Amino acid sequence: MDISGIDIQELTQELNGRWEIHHKEKVDSTNIWARTGASEGAPEFSLYLADEQSKGKGRTGRVWQSPAGTSVSMSLVLRPDIPMEKMPMLTLVMGLAAAVGMREAANLPVEIKWPNDAVVNGKKLCGILTEMGPAGEFVICGVGLNVNMDAFPEELADKATSLYLETGEKHSLAAVTAAVLNAFEKYYHAFVKNGDLAELQKDYEAILANKGRAVRILDPTGEYNGKALGIDKEGRLLVERSDSGQIEKIFTGEVSVRGIYGYV
Ligand code: BTN
Repeated sequence: MDISGIDIQELTQELNGRWEIHHKEKVDSTNIWARTGASEGAPEFSLYLADEQSKGKGRTGRVWQSPAGTSVSMSLVLRPDIPMEKMPMLTLVMGLAAAVGMREAANLPVEIKWPNDAVVNGKKLCGILTEMGPAGEFVICGVGLNVNMDAFPEELADKATSLYLETGEKHSLAAVTAAVLNAFEKYYHAFVKNGDLAELQKDYEAILANKGRAVRILDPTGEYNGKALGIDKEGRLLVERSDSGQIEKIFTGEVSVRGIYGYV
């Protein structure tokens, strides 16, 4: 098992030739690299992987740390034949695939914090950044997997973890990547066929950490407490308000959801 960087031969074998794999030791950001590829015509299921990123992009303009050899940084080129407004749901599709894949690869009870964080013991194992092409002609789905890191910088230590920190064992980057991508393929096809998450809902809710839990909804128009019930087929979080008993449907991006007793 190669634990110093991803073993591309092992990955190629595990993926059975279904992805066009591009690999570099170091790039600025695999999302930037994949966007260039997609703009030049890279087909659906092109995969851009790097052992290290110097300018990994996180959500809301943050930097994503991708240390050499212990994490997976990859970006997928997708060309789903669905209306543009449905594309943000892909983030939930990948969130589910990352949680399911990491569960299988490391035999760990990984859960999802809505909408797309794979978490264990209340800490993040993965980050997902989905970006669209200028006219929705492609989607770049960027994924960072925390696999073999043995520590995190102080500011992340209470929020982030890795498979190694949780299991005490090093894992093959290729095997974890393949488990995530194989799960993704299955869920992606079901999503594109229906244009919604109806076929994924059961698997998603089975590992939804928020389900049945008290949550605080940080809505710019007013905060409230409630209980998370699950998701609908559009990926909205269903929350029963504590004050009125009314069921609210929470869109991603619109508000933040916090656990009352912690991050989840
Ligand atoms: C987050 O803030 O949670 C999202 C982080 C996304 C990080 C991944 S790593 C691979 C891909 N390339 C990037 O520059 N970002 C994404």
